[in-house]
Amino acid sequence: MRKTIMYSERGIDKNVREKRWLRDWITVTCAIFMVLTIFALTLYLLSKFDIFVVNKLKIIDIVPPAVTTTATTTQQSEWSNTGSMNYARAGHTSSVLLNGKVLVCGGDNEVSTLKSAELYDPSTGTWTTTSNMNNARYDHTASVLTNGQVLVTGGYNNRALDSAELYDPLTEIWTDTGKMNNARASHTSAVLKNGRVLVTGGSNDNVLDSAELYDPLTRIWTTTRNMNIAREEHTASVLINGKVLIAGGTNNYHISSAEFYDPITETWTITGTMNDERHAHTASVLTDGKVLVSSGGPNSAELYDPSTEHWVFTGNMSDARYIHTASLLTNGKVLVTGGYIAGVYLNSVELYDPSTRKWSTINSMSSKRWAHAASVLMNGKVLVTGGVNNSSHLNSAELYEPY
Ligand SMILES: *[C@@H]1O[C@H](CO)[C@@H](O)[C@H](O)[C@H]1NC(C)=O
Ligand SMILES: *[C@@H]1O[C@H](CO)[C@@H](O)[C@H](O)[C@H]1NC(C)=O
Ligand SMILES: *[C@@H]1O[C@H](CO)[C@@H](O)[C@H](O)[C@H]1NC(C)=O
Repeated sequence: MRKTIMYSERGIDKNVREKRWLRDWITVTCAIFMVLTIFALTLYLLSKFDIFVVNKLKIIDIVPPAVTTTATTTQQSEWSNTGSMNYARAGHTSSVLLNGKVLVCGGDNEVSTLKSAELYDPSTGTWTTTSNMNNARYDHTASVLTNGQVLVTGGYNNRALDSAELYDPLTEIWTDTGKMNNARASHTSAVLKNGRVLVTGGSNDNVLDSAELYDPLTRIWTTTRNMNIAREEHTASVLINGKVLIAGGTNNYHISSAEFYDPITETWTITGTMNDERHAHTASVLTDGKVLVSSGGPNSAELYDPSTEHWVFTGNMSDARYIHTASLLTNGKVLVTGGYIAGVYLNSVELYDPSTRKWSTINSMSSKRWAHAASVLMNGKVLVTGGVNNSSHLNSAELYEPY
């Protein structure tokens, strides 16, 4: 027992010495640290002052005062307002023409379905009307053909339409171009590598499994084989291998299955099933050839790998959303905007980064928007137009600029 006490007293002794030593050491270190900090701070302030003086001189000498205000605001938001459309609209389409202008057509407002079409000029940020379509329509499709003309198909005007028309950007004239074999709305259209356009599914009185092809050379519609599953509010993505991936949709039940179309054999093949059912979702072909689908169900997203034909979850989004937009940016990221979920109209915006496979929430749009449209301009900005914000159909438009 004694031995133990001795041992512990020696231990205390040793502890006290160690503590003193430690205290001295801390004092010295603190002193050195403080001197260094003051030195560094002085240097920093001096350099700051230098730069400040140089900048101030430059601004006074060269830059007019108006520019200094934009220089301070550009970092605050990726979003800016641009000219408003002549007509408020939702359920319209937006297509980037070969000359860089954007053609917006159709849609509806509180009163009626629209025939009107207008052009956005990115160099001026303004809209001008162009000729009306021959038919008013919403929930139609618009595809830019390889010859630069725009093919508009189907949609609703009280009932589903079988009409199709072509817009010629040179003459600004719309021409009827045959009739589809089925009237359809909430369908998809995809420009194949051979220049033809594949139209799939959608609904008229029934949800459709039929598909048809438009040939821009003959301007004739022909049926091709039916999909395995009837769907509307699905997505169509042209893969790098030229096949077309059809995913999800709805037909009284929500669909998780996917299938692809081979334009050479004109056949459909069932492929991997998504982990979640999705409709009114988005699909984007990433630069590595994988396909990203976003929400249209739970707040999830999945990636399809054409080489394995498998779907894997890829992060969660902060908001589940339907009838939103997704745009592949020139930096390879995907911008998702707005949409609707359970009575709530969204202005929230999320960015998917394929390199980290993560979603991040970025600055919101100035308006809530649902059934709006988005197009990536040739300058890399994204033009978002119209939609519904709960109380109104919108004519406003805003621009997203990637950093
Ligand atoms: C996404 O959310 C679901 C359900 O809330 C959860 O089970 C899952 O682990 C989440 N996944 C990721 C990658 O965070
Ligand atoms: C919807 O937009 C209209 C027109 O811009 C505006 O007056 C109204 O406050 C907006 N409503 C909501 C809920 O944001
Ligand atoms: C949307 O509009 C409805 C009535 O039209 C209103 O009851 C509801 O509170 C609005 N919701 C939001 C989020 O503004």
